Amino acid sequence: MILAVETSCDDTSAAVVCGREVLSSVVSSQDTLHAEFGGVVPEVASRRHAELVNVVVAEAMGRAGLAWEDLAAVAVTQGPGLIGALLVGLATAKSIACRRALPLIPVDHLQGHIAANYALGVQPPFLCLVASGGHTLLATVEEGVRYRVVAKTMDDAAGEAFDKGARLLGLGYPGGRELDELAARGDPGFVRFPRAVPRGRGFSFSGLKTALLYDLREREPAEVEVHRADIAASYQAAIVDQLVEKTLAGAAREGLRSLAVAGGVAANSGLRRALTEACEAQGLRLSLPPLSLCTDNAAMIGLAAVHLPALPWPDYLDLDAFASDAEAKAARPPRKRATRRPS
Ligand code: KG4
Ligand code: ZN
Repeated sequence: MILAVETSCDDTSAAVVCGREVLSSVVSSQDTLHAEFGGVVPEVASRRHAELVNVVVAEAMGRAGLAWEDLAAVAVTQGPGLIGALLVGLATAKSIACRRALPLIPVDHLQGHIAANYALGVQPPFLCLVASGGHTLLATVEEGVRYRVVAKTMDDAAGEAFDKGARLLGLGYPGGRELDELAARGDPGFVRFPRAVPRGRGFSFSGLKTALLYDLREREPAEVEVHRADIAASYQAAIVDQLVEKTLAGAAREGLRSLAVAGGVAANSGLRRALTEACEAQGLRLSLPPLSLCTDNAAMIGLAAVHLPALPWPDYLDLDAFASDAEAKAARPPRKRATRRPS
């Protein structure tokens, strides 16, 4: 039984996981809190995590029907993410683990997203499209949560493209889900937005965002009003086409016939439909995690933890969070400590 905590951005989340079974998963979203600013305000996020985290952990333990004694380890997102937000989760996980002399399992957020697919029983090797608000890449997952990046975005992440597009279309923050819902009522053939980067392996979305900006500028406000859903559908189709095309090309290059998706954008209905159709047509296996495991959640952190080394008590006490991958590489390993069990 692993208790997992995730607070890397604007969702306060805790879950209990046993092997690949999710016993409970609680996510308290801060979306409405940040909506008025049009983006996540780091300090506001940290403070809200601090207010919510104990309640969310207690709720996850309660829903799983567990007592503290039932836990074998505590897992937590170590990075990348907002440093203040991460530190709240890390301090919480350390305190819970330390009080009971339990091991702590630090987890990389992206490995967590990928591991969401293990709830569905996927077997490596597989190619995973990781598309979130901060990352867009193709990862060849070799074993457990060990992966190799085989393509990545050259500019914006796909989630950013959704959020920026949503803002241009006058939708709320974060806009991905709203844009998805609006697009469902529109004609994806209404505007032909630019597709993939010529021949490159990597993804690129910034040109697409600019194309949307110009398209909207050239139309009368009344026309935008009437065709908002059509424009949204066309914009989403351009993002989805690129994601699907590059993912299938990546799978062919890597010689992999098993595909998976991860990250908030994996919740997009257009992407899920297009990937399902493309994989069916080519006889490829596809793992599509449920929506609750696509956007940020602690269950995925617990699912990844199963595949990662645990730091024994009390070696993790001075473990640091990291905001970026570069910081993670530069970090020193945790110091070994003399062991004296808490009374
Ligand atoms: O993985 P995630 O929850 O957080 C990060 O690690 O970034 O991803 C959040 C991103 C946001 O950009 C959000 O707009 C996008 O995922 N997203 C969606 C949908 N649901 C969430 N984008 C498109 N369609 C959706 N249904
Ligand atoms: Zn994420």
